Amino acid sequence: MSIFFYCNFRNKKEWLKSIKKKFSKNKVFSIKDKPNFSQIEYAIVWNLPDSIMKKLKNLKIIFSLGAGVDHIINLPSYNKTPIVRVKDINMAERMSYHVHSQVLIYQLKLYLFQKAQIQKKWLGEQHTKLNRELTIGIIGLGFLGNHVGKYLSNLNYNVIGFKRENKNKKSKIKIYTKKNLNKFLNLSDIVVSILPDTEKTKNFINKKFLSLMKKNSFLINIGRGSTLNEQDLLLHLNKNKSFHVSLDVFKIEPLPKKNKFWTHKNVIITPHAAALTDIDSSINHMFKRLKDYKKTGKIKSDVNLIKGY
Ligand code: OXD
Repeated sequence: MSIFFYCNFRNKKEWLKSIKKKFSKNKVFSIKDKPNFSQIEYAIVWNLPDSIMKKLKNLKIIFSLGAGVDHIINLPSYNKTPIVRVKDINMAERMSYHVHSQVLIYQLKLYLFQKAQIQKKWLGEQHTKLNRELTIGIIGLGFLGNHVGKYLSNLNYNVIGFKRENKNKKSKIKIYTKKNLNKFLNLSDIVVSILPDTEKTKNFINKKFLSLMKKNSFLINIGRGSTLNEQDLLLHLNKNKSFHVSLDVFKIEPLPKKNKFWTHKNVIITPHAAALTDIDSSINHMFKRLKDYKKTGKIKSDVNLIKGY
């Protein structure tokens, strides 16, 4: 049984070492080994080039090194091989911390102090809202979105959610659907988007969407850059001086130096760092899924190719 590992993470050597250790009974190849691609059965990947995907003709499972799978299913040579994605409580918890940290920057007006510090200005106390006085709207209520929602509810924020359609009526979070997007955005002081990249989500956050948000609200995008029309956002920010955003994901990553978001005073930028993929727990998850597959001969893909995520 042979495994091919490919990613462009800063710590890829550490990943490879841990994968080799956990899958010690298997042959694990990286690009440097120049493997015979047609004999590879399992691939563990992030941002695999299509030129390699094309050669992996006998894959049984593709493991995504993240929660997102767009980097696999958008490849022209992807041929419906079952995908196992990272579904990790540590990732969900770290993502919740990230969202909470951004919420606090807005809620406690820390961005004002940061700007004032550059000018050596003593601003003094500012009025700030209590958690229960703020409504946080979450878009993208999968495993991660639900975790973030619960985390924030436990801290007494009012949490609401948005889904195109609501099939799971049991959710503890009040859900708004596409006919009530206006209401959802009207109520939200903060909108957190954790949308995946699909045909339906492209530029979902656009001029119209932004115009329905409260004038002094805060948008946090930790889903995918493709879901946000960056040009519309820039125009909206320039027109609404009390609107703020925190962006972790972008259409082009790393964000090009000339991009105007870098220097905009109402924009916080983080470098696609909201939810670290935890090496040990992710590899344990892959190991378990592979073991189950070997036992039963069956694998259920984590991805619904019709929905695109
Ligand atoms: C992921 C990501 O999909 O980090 O896990 O973007």
